[in-house]
Amino acid sequence: MPTTRAPEDAYTAEPFLPERLTLPALRRAAATCRGCPLHRDATQTVFGAGDKDARVMLVGEQPGDQEDRQGKPFVGPAGKLLDRALEEAGLDPADAYVTNAVKHFKFTQAEPRKRRIHKAPSLREMTACGPWLAAELAVVEPELIVVLGASAGKALLGSSFRVGEARGALLEREIHGRPEKLLATVHPSSVLRARDDKERKAAYEGLVADLKVAAEALG
Ligand code: URA
Ligand code: SF4
Repeated sequence: MPTTRAPEDAYTAEPFLPERLTLPALRRAAATCRGCPLHRDATQTVFGAGDKDARVMLVGEQPGDQEDRQGKPFVGPAGKLLDRALEEAGLDPADAYVTNAVKHFKFTQAEPRKRRIHKAPSLREMTACGPWLAAELAVVEPELIVVLGASAGKALLGSSFRVGEARGALLEREIHGRPEKLLATVHPSSVLRARDDKERKAAYEGLVADLKVAAEALG
């Protein structure tokens, strides 16, 4: 049979969602998602991690190389930096539900043995994967959503979202018909990408300062 590809605007995770929305059911179902082409090259689905009673939900962009191999979000270098920043801001990483806008790793690889280089997901891929994030929000019902970087912001708040304009302030926005409190900040990977030590230190301190606003909001 000839293989035909779904047009990009037909990408969606929707048909893969389970009837009953619980975290274990969602995680099982997401493991078989083929809602967009990203599942083809990635090792596995990296679903969110944490407790359904978590008060805060952290949303990143997509799994990276380490996350793709280990099947857990934020376990690589960006995750280590994030954990450090959370603790410094007075937030216990163990009290947070951590997830991503997109659940499969998107990368380019020039040759099979070469390092896999992260590629930003397209808006359509983020939209396709959106039902998983919406379901996580519906189950966890966090008091506060921490938006880590532009992709998470665009996935949750639309394509006009800009981190620079939104960061560090408590926002209230309607998401999937419910009012949500949000705090946006930079993606921890952007701290790792800083050009020199001075820039890295300033970027890290900016991240911690924003996370402190989240910590205060949670009380
Ligand atoms: N970057 C992300 O946005 N998410 C991860 O899980 C790891 C790195
Ligand atoms: Fe499904 Fe999201 Fe993976 Fe695409 S990236 S296949 S929508 S889980």
